[in-house]
Amino acid sequence: MKLTVNNLKDTENIGKIIGRCLEKGTVLCLDGDLGVGKTALTQFIAREFGVEEYITSPTFTIIKEYEGRLPFYHMDVYRIDSEDDMYDLGYDEYIYSEGVTIIEWSHKIKGILPDERINIEIQRIDDTSRIMDIGGKGKIFDRLAEELKYYENTCN
Ligand SMILES: Nc1ncnc2c1ncn2[C@@H]1O[C@H](COP(=O)(O)OP(=O)(O)OP(=O)(O)O)[C@@H](O)[C@H]1O
Ligand SMILES: [Mg+2]
Repeated sequence: MKLTVNNLKDTENIGKIIGRCLEKGTVLCLDGDLGVGKTALTQFIAREFGVEEYITSPTFTIIKEYEGRLPFYHMDVYRIDSEDDMYDLGYDEYIYSEGVTIIEWSHKIKGILPDERINIEIQRIDDTSRIMDIGGKGKIFDRLAEELKYYENTCN
């Protein structure tokens, strides 16, 4: 499904809906060009998820851990050269844990992403407008898709 986002406030609204849908074991993949808004969306999701700490981009650390209503793991795999490097960082312990995981630049590790996941590809239209292409597989994605359809119908 494709959602048109006109400004940061729309991104916040979508982030809130996602934040409410996340459950134990959810893996959410965010892709799109540099500076398109992956971290911004993650910040809104995290806030709704109960993370009080301010989320910053994990570009240099790759993985950052926060605590919301469940553990919240934020990864940025831009600098990862091989999927093996991810296992060295404990990747599968994160994705198969009691927490939720958000992965920026997930296509760099597409061979090791779980089948059940949510994919969001963000495309820039202009300074504040974006298109979010949202897909995925599994129960949590199905529920999110319903919530987003409802949101789309009530605001357009
Ligand atoms: N509708 C919008 N949604 C998201 N961000 C927006 C929007 N409009 C403007 N912005 C701005 O775009 C910038 C997005 O930066 P952000 O760090 O989130 O991008 P990113 O995709 O995580 O980049 P990187 O690839 O470097 O990790 C922010 O400054 C944000 O305020
Ligand atoms: Mg980022």
